[in-house]
Amino acid sequence: MKEKAQSIYSEYPELAIVEKKDNSEEKREVHSFVLRTNKLHTFQLEAVKNYYEHYSIRYKEELLDFKKVFNNDKPVVIEIGFGTGESTSRIARERDQYNYLAIEVFLNGYTKLLSVVGDEKIENVRLMRFDAVAVLNDMIKDNSIAGFHIFFADPWPKKKHHKRRLIQLPFTNLLSKKLIKGGYIYCVTDWSDYADQMLSVLSNTDNMKNPYDGFAPSREWRPKTKYERRGVNLDYTINEIWFEKK
Ligand SMILES: C[S@@+](CC[C@H](N)C(=O)[O-])C[C@H]1O[C@@H](n2cnc3c(N)ncnc32)[C@H](O)[C@@H]1O
Repeated sequence: MKEKAQSIYSEYPELAIVEKKDNSEEKREVHSFVLRTNKLHTFQLEAVKNYYEHYSIRYKEELLDFKKVFNNDKPVVIEIGFGTGESTSRIARERDQYNYLAIEVFLNGYTKLLSVVGDEKIENVRLMRFDAVAVLNDMIKDNSIAGFHIFFADPWPKKKHHKRRLIQLPFTNLLSKKLIKGGYIYCVTDWSDYADQMLSVLSNTDNMKNPYDGFAPSREWRPKTKYERRGVNLDYTINEIWFEKK
């Protein structure tokens, strides 16, 4: 049984808004997503009722204080576009030396991860349903983030849509600006020309260096998601890109 998302929007109207309406041109660097209509299972609607206040963060033009959010000083990793959060919850459980801010606009995925995190009380994860570009611009302090995870970003395969790809300049300069020294950007893709683009764009991003000669080795702690399994079934190469802030 699925229900329209409207039933949660009446109680949590802010959940229906995922991007800044007054985005000025210079801030609107990339429009990397399309919104799908949403129908949710009861467990997803319940997750919002039960866990939204504790595990989700509302978009606000105000810097986040991670110490207050997580109640500790652990370094913070931001995941952009977590999909259904399959990797997010596993990485958060297994690598709990970090806190994770997981950002996704896809309501179905957002509520799935909210349900897992709330049911299992995974305290080192907070979620946002909002455009990550606006979140980074408006809510994240410069030089404060330990790492970014961007796994299987939408490849926007048609040439006329390449401008929608998330990994491009100047957005990657924004990622770099938010990282602490030694902080990392970790991207994975099964789309080969996007992988080349990621390598080239990040090589030209302010203050970032590639510790590898080209693509990086796979991190054993990164779980394989459905996008990866699909790519492997189609015989696509999975490329990993890892850059660090100088
Ligand atoms: C192809 S999916 C990959 C999901 C997941 N990382 C995985 O590996 O299974 C890419 C996701 O990025 C999200 N996304 C794209 N641009 C975004 C943005 N600016 N802010 C937040 N999420 C975004 C999309 O909604 C989509 O769910």
